[in-house]
Amino acid sequence: MKRIIRTNKMAPAMLFLVSVLFSSLATAAGGGYPLDEANVDSSDKASLQRGAKYFQNYCAGCHATQYQRYERVADDLGIPHDLMMEHLVFDKSAKIGDLMHNSMDPDEAKVWFGAAPPDLTLVSRVRGGPDWLYTYLRTFYEDPSRPYGVNNKVFPDVGMPHVLLELQGVQIDNCGDADPAARDPLSGDKICGLSVDPQRKGSMTPAQYDQMAYDLTNFLAYSAEPMQEQRKLLGIYVYLFLALFFVFAYLLKREFWKDVH
Ligand code: HEC
Repeated sequence: MKRIIRTNKMAPAMLFLVSVLFSSLATAAGGGYPLDEANVDSSDKASLQRGAKYFQNYCAGCHATQYQRYERVADDLGIPHDLMMEHLVFDKSAKIGDLMHNSMDPDEAKVWFGAAPPDLTLVSRVRGGPDWLYTYLRTFYEDPSRPYGVNNKVFPDVGMPHVLLELQGVQIDNCGDADPAARDPLSGDKICGLSVDPQRKGSMTPAQYDQMAYDLTNFLAYSAEPMQEQRKLLGIYVYLFLALFFVFAYLLKREFWKDVH
């Protein structure tokens, strides 16, 4: 009894601690910059396949997703094994059952970039979730004070170069000191923000680039929880079972109570 009372007393304190911890983490993650909603959809196989392709082409040179195997990705995304090995695995010594390692030495990478590129298998579950990741990929902007000439809105002073620059073009921050979240009271449009410099456009239009950033985010959100689709399906089975069980439970109850009056 004593024990129970004590835990009850502790509960508000624990709750307070946890909420303080999480709120500070959340602010640290976003830096206060408004995040755009990604609305990831793990059932959209075409988007996931494109995301895997972009990831292998533009990200895997530096980042591993080493808690994931090529085979699993191929099976989940409906990619035949031979096509996966031929077009999406650039390490020719790798086998389909291997973990998605990469060959970059973390110590050397630290010298080159100031920070080692972290593993990205779970990245969509840390920081601000998929929305953060989606916003991160879309908010690199020109900043001559940085070693690679770019900075990022949700990851200030990031050590990663803007590897998608040739696709997006050079973005300029036209906000100055204005609040990036501010909106025109009449039209509801954002007052200022990032926009691609018309003189230095990329090979994609802003809409195509957003779609690509979405596909990449979708793929990394899938990587962080490959069971997601099965989990949802299981939920449906459980409901079906409960519905069926209810019928039998009801019939049984009628049977038991029919003589009791
Ligand atoms: C040239 C190497 C390189 C490439 C290619 C690269 N990155 Fe990075 N990335 C880095 C480095 C270095 C960091 C660490 C930055 C830091 O901590 O300041 C990083 C950090 C990140 C982070 C932040 C992770 C965290 O939580 O700290 C994300 C997300 C990310 N990269 C995504 C990507 C994606 C998606 C691609 C492909 C479009 C990509 N990166 C391509 C080098 C690279």
